[in-house]
This record gives sequence, structure tokens and C-alpha cells, in this order.
Amino acid sequence: MGEESGDVVRRERFSGGPARGFLSSMDADERLFAADLAVDRAHVVMLAEQDIIDGESASAILAALADIERTGYDALEGEDIHAAIETAVIERVGETGGRMHTARSRNDEVATCIRYRLREDLLDGVEATLVLREALVEEAHAHTETTMPGYTHRQPAQPTTVGHFLSSYAQALGRDTARLCRAYDRTNRSPLGTAAFAGTPFSIDRERTADLLGFDGVLGNSMDAVSTRDFLVEAASALVTLSVTLSGLATDLVEFAADGYLDVDDDYASTSSIMPQKKNPDTLELVRASAGTASAGLNGLLTTLKGLPRAYNRDLQEATPHIWSAVDAVVPATEVAAGAVATATWNGEALATAAGDGFATATGVADLLAIHGIPFRTAHEILAQAAEDGADYAAIESAANAVLDDSLSSYVERETVESTLDADASVASRDSVGGPAPTAVEAALGGMETDIEDDRERLTEHRERLVAAESALETEVGGYA
Ligand code: ARG
Repeated sequence: MGEESGDVVRRERFSGGPARGFLSSMDADERLFAADLAVDRAHVVMLAEQDIIDGESASAILAALADIERTGYDALEGEDIHAAIETAVIERVGETGGRMHTARSRNDEVATCIRYRLREDLLDGVEATLVLREALVEEAHAHTETTMPGYTHRQPAQPTTVGHFLSSYAQALGRDTARLCRAYDRTNRSPLGTAAFAGTPFSIDRERTADLLGFDGVLGNSMDAVSTRDFLVEAASALVTLSVTLSGLATDLVEFAADGYLDVDDDYASTSSIMPQKKNPDTLELVRASAGTASAGLNGLLTTLKGLPRAYNRDLQEATPHIWSAVDAVVPATEVAAGAVATATWNGEALATAAGDGFATATGVADLLAIHGIPFRTAHEILAQAAEDGADYAAIESAANAVLDDSLSSYVERETVESTLDADASVASRDSVGGPAPTAVEAALGGMETDIEDDRERLTEHRERLVAAESALETEVGGYA
């Protein structure tokens, strides 16, 4: 992009000066190249259908657009992608190319292009969450009986299973999918035809362009339609929330790898440039860091948009790249997390040993004493004393005798207490809905599989609708060849 390049919008009056590069969004606009071509095509087809431009002009413009697509983005010059494409059309077909910009403005054009492009990014994000959920659920199935320590405050708390742990993230990611879908629905509305903000006297058909571009409908009020970037905030928020889920998962896996509980596959690890023995879970650390980039994008959006008056302000140009940085950080991070989860190996033996460490079954014993008539608070006190005095049956018995002023065996048999001290038995006993008992996890996984299937169906429907619109537009355009 030459600094001195001109375009149809600039003309002589605003032809250059030191701020030219500063004004340009050409570098960031590559991402909107295909979107702008589609938006131009749909608009031109509609203009011809409405007899706002004649068929011959439409044919010439559409042929020019095809040629511009062929020569590619790098051949374009202009202040932004919209001006550059219009300039290139006029270069090819002469003055009649100027009819393309009838009944619209760059304001509705850019808003439409961003929405058109972001739709695909959001669907890629949805797809990535589905792949990760599938990996988590599949691994969870394989590990419903792999007992592991569960933590609070990163201290051993109660035994659980790898299946319960993994499905906790599968459940969270189900909400992340839903948030992305919601953002998609809100994004998929067309502002095209609202012009600068105040509509147009031409008898355009906004529903028609919306339909040709695969949008679910139009945004009504023309002033809101060009002004709003709240759909970017919503999309970025969904991405940030997803990245926060990912960052927690990444930290858990990094720590489990450090503890020797988990072996990250070589494909998802790297080594040190100086310490040859090292195998580091770098990919997971980068997954975790994606939350920083995504959150910076959201903050960039919010601070740029805050306090903007109606209707179009050039600040909006600076808002757009923030959403791309969030997308580019989070979608690949989700894909990598899925690969890392699917290929990691859990060290069942080390996990089982650790599961009983730190008197992690104390809560289970306290529950048992409560089941046998001792108030839970009293049982808690007994186990707290026992934890300090040896954390075994003898310690529990002497603590009970002291606290209850009665023998423990008059409440519950020694064998029963001892079996509760076993981590596997402790897990199996906690079979309340959503609990870690293998039966409870299996039941939960069944529901998650159904949810994933439903979400996948919806994703396929969205994708098919976009593909259908694309080919319908192609057919319409073909009619002018
Ligand atoms: N590149 C601009 C953007 O991204 C296009 C709109 C320019 N409109 C204007 N009224 N100056 O926002």
C-alpha cells in the first residue's frame, strides 16, 4: 500500500497530507476483503432488481468485482477496503462503476462487512468448543474410575475422579458454546441500506440484501444500525469467558503434569534450549495466556466505544481490530486445548496414591458419623482432632471418645469407618446428582453428549444457511454475466 495512493472517496480535496497513513485501515481490512466483495455483490444485485441501476451497469460492476477478487487484496489501494474496491471498480468500468455506491454509505457497509466476517469466526469458535467438549467427555468416560485427589485452595480436599474433573470443564464449556451462539444470533443481522445513518430516498429492499448475505433479518432503526458495535462487545465477552474457562483447565493440567499425574503428549510439549531433560507443557501455558489477549481486546473495545455519540464516528475503525485479536487468540487456543486433552495420559497409580493423601477422606468419615446420629458439627470436630493426631482409625477413635464422652463403636462399627477411609469407597459413596461416583458421572456424561449433539446440529444449520446464501448470491450474480 503506497502512502500516496488515492481513492474515489478522497479526490483532490482530501488527497493526502501527513495524516493519510494514520487515517487508513487498509492493513486491518484484509480480513474484510471477501466480506466486502459479497456485500458489494448483494447490494448491486438488489439495486438492479429494484431498477435503481440498470442491468448493464450491474453486469459491468459485477464483472469488475470478479476481476478484483482475482487480482486479490494486495493489488488494492485506498483509504480502506471499501474505498479501495470502489476505486478499483471505477478504474475497470469507468464512471458507471460509481453507481455501486448508490443508496449506501461506508458506514452501513463496514458494519455489514464486520458482521458478515465475524459470523464465520464465531462459528469456528463454536466448533472449537464442541471439539474440546467431545475430547473432555470421551476422556471422562475412560476415567470414571480413575481416583484422583480433588483440591480446594490447592490443598488436597476430597478424593474425586479424573472423569468428574474433566466433565466439570465439559459442563462449563457447554455454557461457553451457548454464549458464542447467542453472540452469533445477535451478530447475524444486517445494517445494510441504512446508509450514513439516516436511510435513503431510493426504494431499496433491505430484506433482500439481508437474505442474499445469509443474515437472519435486518437491524431496524438506521441510526442504531450504523452506530452500534455492541455485538462486538458481546462476541468478545463470550470469547473472554471461554478463555477464562480454558485458562483454568490449562493451569490444572500444567500443575498435574508437574505433580507427575499427567503426561502431556510430545506434540503438545516442548523442551528447553539449555536443559535437555526438560519436557514443558508450553502449549497449555499459551492456552492460558490467550485469556490476557482476549481480555485486552474486550477492554480495547469497551474503552473505545464508551461515550461515543450517535451515529458514526471514526473511533469505530479502531474498535474493529480488537475483536479480531480476541478471535485469533481464543479460537486456536480452544483447538489446541482439545488436542492436548485428547492425547494426554493420566498416571492412575500416582493419582490413586495421592487421592488418599492429606487425610482427604476426613469429610467422608465425618459424613458417616453424621449418618449414624452424631451432629455434623461434632463429627467435624472429631475428624479435625484426628487429623492432627495421626489421621487413622486409632486417631479417629480416641478423638471421638474424647469429644463424645462415649465410645465410637456405640455409633458405628470400626469396619464401616475403615472402609470410608478408602479413597475409592469415598468416591463411590458420593453419588448425589453431579457427584463424583462413577454412576453419577456416567449419568451426567450421557446428558452432556446429548447437549453436544444438539449444539452440533445447530452449528451445521448455521453453516448450511451461510453456504446456501453464498451459492444463491453466486447464482444471482451469474445471471448478470
Ligand atoms: N474504514 C472505516 C471503518 O472501519 C469505514 C467507514 C468510514 N466512514 C466514514 N464516515 N468516514 O469504520
